[in-house]
Amino acid sequence: GAPVEADISQLEPGAILRVKWRGKPVWVVSRTPEMLEALPTLDGQLVDPASDLPQQPEYCQNATRSIKEQYFVVIGICTHLGCSPTFRPEFAPDDMGAAWRGGFFCPCHGSRFDLAGRVFKGVPAPTNLVIPVHTYINDTTILVG
Ligand code: FES
Repeated sequence: GAPVEADISQLEPGAILRVKWRGKPVWVVSRTPEMLEALPTLDGQLVDPASDLPQQPEYCQNATRSIKEQYFVVIGICTHLGCSPTFRPEFAPDDMGAAWRGGFFCPCHGSRFDLAGRVFKGVPAPTNLVIPVHTYINDTTILVG
């Protein structure tokens, strides 16, 4: 499949942009400073907080799993059985007893991922969401693939 461009010039902080690449949903989330601050506080609840498994290109094997901290690029397919998780950006009390700091929730079997696509412990999905190969063509255009 050909690479696809994502134009993020209109993407507001806290919002998500959806494009398709090779028939798969690819998402770009513009994370707010509050969302980014929440990420390291979640490490203890996660299966692979440091992204040791090869679920991302090397240049995204970092604390935010991204090239630029603000923008999170990810394939929107659950690593359990392939459903597409829902985007749940809100900070809210969580029914598992911890505070939900925003992320992705898979409606099929309840897997949860944070806003870096990192999977929480105790859910069926075994690994973090997959990050596709991508690069910035300019400040407002991402080339996926
Ligand atoms: Fe997502 Fe099963 S496919 S939890």
